[in-house]
Amino acid sequence: NHKIVVAIDGHSSCGKSTIAKAVAARFGYIFIDSGAMYRAVTLFALRKQLISEGLVKVQELIDLLPTIQIDFRYNAEKQKSDTFLNGENVEDEIRQLPVSQNVSPVAAIAEVRAAMVRLQQEMGKDKGIVMDGRDIGTVVFPDAELKLFVTASAEIRAQRRFDELTAKGETVSYEEILQNVQERDHIDSTREASPLRKADDALVLDNSYLTREEQLDWVIEKVKERL
Ligand code: C5P
Repeated sequence: NHKIVVAIDGHSSCGKSTIAKAVAARFGYIFIDSGAMYRAVTLFALRKQLISEGLVKVQELIDLLPTIQIDFRYNAEKQKSDTFLNGENVEDEIRQLPVSQNVSPVAAIAEVRAAMVRLQQEMGKDKGIVMDGRDIGTVVFPDAELKLFVTASAEIRAQRRFDELTAKGETVSYEEILQNVQERDHIDSTREASPLRKADDALVLDNSYLTREEQLDWVIEKVKERL
């Protein structure tokens, strides 16, 4: 019974997690949303007032890294995992704009990345895992059997995120979200520590005009070819 590692990277809000979750469910694999971990660190930093006007007190945050504990716990009712920060369920809070607007500078800190990558590699040591993020195929699991690079136009991604937040009852503007998506793309792709880039051996999935079912069928086929 051969298990593989599936690494899914790509731009912000292009549906990586949705695909990753569905693939994991299909094969009985663990699903890990690595972005949730950077979001949890960002929430921690915001609460400790270590971020003001987009500027992070880097050394203070690094010093506090050993006090940050992040884990995922399965929520049977929602049939998905919730993200916990030092024992508190922060799943909803880490998806809101204050965190989205500050997560990229936090994720650009090399020491933060080193700590998260260590945790992620530990989670994947037995394989049978689907992880999505920005550096999974390039840094976290360079030997992953299947690597995908997912993308779609910024406008389409912003519209999807807008629909998602609006459906949850949040009041947000499309313009604000588009700006956030573009800003994160820029910071994530140009940062020095593990910038977002396609691994040489990753398959590209542009899902601008694909339905969820079409994407899932395609990915499932790719997984099967590697089992
Ligand atoms: O995937 P998501 O959009 O929730 O990730 C939030 C942010 O976390 C990204 O914009 C990026 O700055 C950072 N991130 C990262 N490396 C990962 C996953 C996320 O730098 N593997």
